[in-house]
Amino acid sequence: MSADNGHVLRIEQLVAGYGDTPVIRGVDVEVPAGKLVVVVGPNGAGKSTLLKAILGLVNITGGEVMLDGRPITRSPLEDLARNGVGYVPQGDAVFDSMRVRENLEMGGYLLDKALRAERLEQALELFPDLRHKLKRYVGTMSGGERRMTAVARAMMLAPRVLLLDEPTAGLSAALTKMVLTEQARMLADRGTAVLLVEQKAHAALEQADWAYVLVQGEVAMSAPGREVLEDPDMGEVFLGGGSGLLADAEPAG
Ligand SMILES: Nc1ncnc2c1ncn2[C@@H]1O[C@H](COP(=O)(O)OP(=O)(O)OP(=O)(O)O)[C@@H](O)[C@H]1O
Ligand SMILES: [Mg+2]
Repeated sequence: MSADNGHVLRIEQLVAGYGDTPVIRGVDVEVPAGKLVVVVGPNGAGKSTLLKAILGLVNITGGEVMLDGRPITRSPLEDLARNGVGYVPQGDAVFDSMRVRENLEMGGYLLDKALRAERLEQALELFPDLRHKLKRYVGTMSGGERRMTAVARAMMLAPRVLLLDEPTAGLSAALTKMVLTEQARMLADRGTAVLLVEQKAHAALEQADWAYVLVQGEVAMSAPGREVLEDPDMGEVFLGGGSGLLADAEPAG
């Protein structure tokens, strides 16, 4: 296993943001191989910023990001991809005007042709539903199929740690469950360290091995998903956020 007590990804006392005022204020997170770790928290808590900080896309003013015990803080994105860090950003990270096959092949742009073909086959084993949709233009696909394509594309580089930013945004309750169980949970069960950021806290916490509750850039609670779900204080923490974090309201429309 890894040289870091089994933790593929470890974030230590991270301070990061966009200008002078940090958004992430001293955050510790650990993501072991084969575990689904979720970060939940209200809008603007800094969840996306945390993922961007891991990828060196925002200004880091303190702390370290470690991969298998080695610092990767502020590494160039291409080095991170080569070293096994995969990322599916918030929103649809797929190209509508391209076919599914082309989207997947783009995910393997760092690979030589033979390995790319091998990884495409592996991605289709993970997501068999995509096999007979390879020729579809992504622009004609459903929300769930698009997310599947986006995650499959990230898997082309066989990441050891996969960062997912709200993969269920805009999806119905049924598709949300499908994405969380058949994508995030399934990849963790097959050995990937998965760090999932979700606003649909209830659904995500049900699947999570471990959860961090991020509030205003700080970890307010860190515990197994079930414990966070059952903690009476956690509902309270989010009441100020409007609908309540644990409500998982259906998306409108
Ligand atoms: N590019 C940016 N420049 C300046 N400030 C930003 C930028 N992006 C985000 N912020 C600010 O950083 C804070 C955290 O934003 P972030 O997007 O990380 O929140 P989040 O937890 O992902 O929210 P959501 O659940 O809505 O996706 C917010 O106050 C936001 O306004
Ligand atoms: Mg976000």
